[in-house]
Amino acid sequence: MRIGERCVAVGSRGTGVSVQVVHTPRVEEWRRLYEVAASAASWVAAHRWSYDETIARLTVADIRRKLDLSLRDRLLEIGCGTGASLSLVLHEDQLGYGFDLCEAQIRRAGDFAVDRARLRLGVAEAGALPVASGRFDKVLCYSVFQCLPDDDYARRVVAELIRACRPGGLILIGDVFGVMERQRQRLIGHGHNERVVDAFLSPLLPMWHARHRLQASNNRVKPRHYRRGFFRGALHEIACDVSFLPQRIPGRSASRCRYDVLIRRHG
Ligand SMILES: C[S@@+](CC[C@H](N)C(=O)[O-])C[C@H]1O[C@@H](n2cnc3c(N)ncnc32)[C@H](O)[C@@H]1O
Repeated sequence: MRIGERCVAVGSRGTGVSVQVVHTPRVEEWRRLYEVAASAASWVAAHRWSYDETIARLTVADIRRKLDLSLRDRLLEIGCGTGASLSLVLHEDQLGYGFDLCEAQIRRAGDFAVDRARLRLGVAEAGALPVASGRFDKVLCYSVFQCLPDDDYARRVVAELIRACRPGGLILIGDVFGVMERQRQRLIGHGHNERVVDAFLSPLLPMWHARHRLQASNNRVKPRHYRRGFFRGALHEIACDVSFLPQRIPGRSASRCRYDVLIRRHG
């Protein structure tokens, strides 16, 4: 199965890449949400509501810098939505590859991407990517983890992102909703040591989780938070280096609650 082909498919076909179903009802809820968002998107764009060009430009610059993106890099984005951000992250004349769970988002790509001709997009789920192993120099998954329903699913996504990346390549899991991230960053901003802050906050985590579970028990789709410890665990047996980077995008208030995870696959 090649990039750009529609992939709802499951099982093992084409180039021998094995793709399995992992779609759960929670994943389906998010897909439906983004389907609705895709139809509302033109209205939102026309009214310039919730879109700030300066913040978008700063976010893109932050992604490029963290990924150390060069013109020669083959870049894959998972959860690319309409491809609007991907088209901005790319250098001029560079091709970009993207997959998203929601077909309606991909169909709107022509309306929002700066240069649709440079994008090769397809429909696929983050936990089952229809790409051959090691095909990409850089892999981006930005603002998607909050949609992943549980740790097992998210672990599978981490493994897929790493599989798609070549040895020595970089993976950026960006805009992760952190647990008590706001409090954490405030304390660190006041000059407290990171380890001390984590030790101080960790006894409060069960309380935070209990509140979160209670909220998640009603039917509405709720964004999920992932701790740094989740990524350390998921990467435990994978040969890679991982660093956690604060997201300091000036003017973006959400930055205080988010962080980025940068992974380098060992060569
Ligand atoms: C907040 S948008 C981010 C879009 C883009 N990455 C950006 O930064 O502009 C989240 C996207 O993730 C996609 N998504 C959610 N769950 C997914 C999954 N399990 N597999 C693939 N894509 C998913 C949604 O359809 C949506 O387009």
